[in-house]
Amino acid sequence: MPREEWPSLKSPEGILRLGVLASGRGSNLQSILEAIGRGDLSARVAVVISNKKEAQALERAAQYQVPALFLDPSHYLSREAYDTAILQQLKEYRVELIVLAGYMRLVTRTLIEPYHDRIINIHPSLLPAFPGMHAHRQALEYGVRVSGCTLHFVDEEMDHGPIVAQAAVPVFEGDTEEQLSERILAEEHRLLPQVLQLYAEGKLKVEGRKVHIQEGASIRKNR
Ligand code: GRF
Repeated sequence: MPREEWPSLKSPEGILRLGVLASGRGSNLQSILEAIGRGDLSARVAVVISNKKEAQALERAAQYQVPALFLDPSHYLSREAYDTAILQQLKEYRVELIVLAGYMRLVTRTLIEPYHDRIINIHPSLLPAFPGMHAHRQALEYGVRVSGCTLHFVDEEMDHGPIVAQAAVPVFEGDTEEQLSERILAEEHRLLPQVLQLYAEGKLKVEGRKVHIQEGASIRKNR
């Protein structure tokens, strides 16, 4: 395919099928489901998979009649074997784009290769600052005045792949992790559905480390 062509990422059914991997609360999943409900995102959450049985994300999925699966990592001998099981489910549900929405587990090549440039992660810092766990704590301890969130395609390094969108928030004197996290989360919920909609419309193109957004398309300041 010539590089200058924008890939058509729409599914044969005309609606993008998402697979959401989540380990906890699932507020980002909720932001996706609500955006779909409002008509702001033309996609369907085909399946939600969690590595944690008690993940609230699974309950949220069930409330929206979305298939919700718990896959127990302890039943698999390796990370690759676990990801093979996930891959099988993703195929079963004909998932085209994977969203890592608070998925607290490293994904392996087993998933990354078949879903090359088709996995989006959301991280609560302005990458490349503060990758990994406890990003809010890292930001507060470092003393930055600005932090935020990053939406990026996933590659084989943690919190590293090509960046689609970022939003900044101020860090205030005396902020706690909870306060900073809440401020950043509001931005995550604003950005994520918009990025997914750009993807669904085929308006994103990855070239090396750069993600190009088609001319004329943009991310709004408000939801
Ligand atoms: C978010 O802060 C996200 O950036 C990080 O994990 C958290 C998940 O929150 N990767 P939720 O489960 O979507 O509420």
